[in-house]
Amino acid sequence: MSSIVLAITGASALQLGERSIQILLENCRSVDLILSKGAYEVAKSERNINIPVEPKAQADYWRTKLGVKSGKLTCYRWNDHSASIASGSHKTRGMLIVPCSMGTLGRIASGFSLDLIERCADVHLKENRPLIISPRESPLNLIHIENIKRLATAGALIVPPIPAWYTNPQTIEDIIDFIVVRLFDSLGEDLNYIKRWEGPDK
Ligand SMILES: Cc1cc2nc3c(=O)[nH]c(=O)nc-3n(C[C@H](O)[C@H](O)[C@H](O)COP(=O)(O)O)c2cc1C
Repeated sequence: MSSIVLAITGASALQLGERSIQILLENCRSVDLILSKGAYEVAKSERNINIPVEPKAQADYWRTKLGVKSGKLTCYRWNDHSASIASGSHKTRGMLIVPCSMGTLGRIASGFSLDLIERCADVHLKENRPLIISPRESPLNLIHIENIKRLATAGALIVPPIPAWYTNPQTIEDIIDFIVVRLFDSLGEDLNYIKRWEGPDK
């Protein structure tokens, strides 16, 4: 089965990316994981977490932190332009960027493939494969909005990390799970972690 490319960038809400890794591996998916340079900085300054950059050490780090042995996890450096996933000839099921910073979003929108995340997103658009982008910023300025429109027009699906209220979430984990599972819905992955709307209670 081909892999899912998962990218985590330097926006707030690393927790969404972490839970995405965990859920995919728990469900025995194959994950190609890229953290942007900014993601390491945000992890450090926002959560005081030092994530190893070296790919093998990082894979071990996630396995231990998330307590999951199943699935396949391959980590890449943000500047590994010769990685297999940088080529359209390498088949994937799609790509998810969560959380997506306005920097990464803007560079993808302008075709400026500086790092491996931007190159992979470019590849997914040119190959007409699913590209799900979850932008995290508020408020949005007109440049953000125009970049989002450009990406949506080019075929990306824009799925902001917005919680549902009808589920009556009790914990932050409830909110995270709802957002992450809805992102996977957009990728066509059927994961059974949340209560779905079935009409008002009688
Ligand atoms: C603690 C912290 C939180 C940040 N949160 C956001 C955010 O929510 N959205 C955003 O677009 N940028 C945010 N930034 C700024 C980005 O990290 C910065 O623009 C960075 O260059 C993005 O790099 P990347 O797109 O390569 O990940 C944050 C920075 C820090 C240090």
